Amino acid sequence: MKKGCRYGTHRVISPEGTLPQPAIKLDNTMEIYDNEVLIDVQTLNIDSASYTQIKQACNGDASRMEEMILAIVKERGKMQNPVTGSGGMLIGTVKEIGSNFPDKSLKVGDKIATLVSLSLTPLKIHRIKKLDPASDQVDVDAEAILFESGLYAILPHDIPEKLALALLDVAGAPAQVARLVKEGDTVCIIGGGGKSGILCCYQAMKNVGPYGKVIVVEFSEENAQRIKEMNLATHVIVADATKVMDVYKKVTEIAGERGCEVTINNVNVPSTEMTSILITKGQGCVYFFSMATSFTKAALGAEGVGKDISLIVGNGYAKGHAELTLNIVRESACIRELFEKLYVK
Ligand SMILES: NC(=O)c1ccc[n+]([C@@H]2O[C@H](COP(=O)([O-])OP(=O)(O)OC[C@H]3O[C@@H](n4cnc5c(N)ncnc54)[C@H](OP(=O)(O)O)[C@@H]3O)[C@@H](O)[C@H]2O)c1
Repeated sequence: MKKGCRYGTHRVISPEGTLPQPAIKLDNTMEIYDNEVLIDVQTLNIDSASYTQIKQACNGDASRMEEMILAIVKERGKMQNPVTGSGGMLIGTVKEIGSNFPDKSLKVGDKIATLVSLSLTPLKIHRIKKLDPASDQVDVDAEAILFESGLYAILPHDIPEKLALALLDVAGAPAQVARLVKEGDTVCIIGGGGKSGILCCYQAMKNVGPYGKVIVVEFSEENAQRIKEMNLATHVIVADATKVMDVYKKVTEIAGERGCEVTINNVNVPSTEMTSILITKGQGCVYFFSMATSFTKAALGAEGVGKDISLIVGNGYAKGHAELTLNIVRESACIRELFEKLYVK
């Protein structure tokens, strides 16, 4: 077996000298190096910002969406949306393990979810088995490579596989909420009615305690209603987060003129940076989990309105994130029920 680099640089075709995530093209030959794992892929969970963009570009037509996904993977050797730059996650079965893969507990036949982005994972799709425009989980006949530095989780026995995949895709978000939100805080969760949003709401409600506030800004009545029924927020606002002043007015009516201590951005559309910044208190922080976030808009926008706040990039990984997120559905019967309806088909 050939010797591979810990970070997978041996798979980068272009541009030379980059790591696999920012690379434009990866070598997706499914012959493993000594420190890699080969995975038989069952389902891809395409990142929501990416799937939304693909769906819009194909007018929601399933066969055009399939063609677009196949073309991206053929071109790049990985499922990285060229517009959003984002990837997603996968579940599958371990097929082969390189002799120098350091984690000796992993066995051939184990069912795993990769906890690193598809935007850096060498992937070869043989066939798309099922694509539903309404669901970002795509069933495939495919193979993928996990690098030595790649994180993974063995799929739990008490949670259906597709539900675990959906949860692990966004595990970084509630884990950051657990770190950032303090007792008594006022927190705003933009896009709080979606998948990561609901998990963040649960964690935020837990952290703020009885004297804090959790404000959700959600686009659709339907998603907003779900949050109310599940008691996952103290206040729910139905609004378009791209309309800055409208949301600012509605949030500050609840939070007070200075705004929120912590804002979490979970939307899947562009141009919500300034809304997040304006509703956040000086010295507070915004956690941009959304992959539709523009670094330039956020950084220059905050400066432009004179806001001294911390802008946190949504690192998908936080220590212990998988267990914390899986535990939310173990603890909350209503979130489990809703997510099973949405993701276990
Ligand atoms: N940082 C990371 O590592 C990482 C990992 C995974 C995902 N992500 C990103 O996290 C974000 C959320 O992912 P998800 O899976 O939770 O997505 P999701 O389930 O699709 O949720 C997105 C939510 O945002 C709402 N929304 C959309 N446009 C809005 C607007 N203009 N105003 C207010 N709300 C709006 C949606 O409402 P409707 O359904 O009514 O449109 C939906 O409830 C995505 O951008 C995704 O790419 C980041």
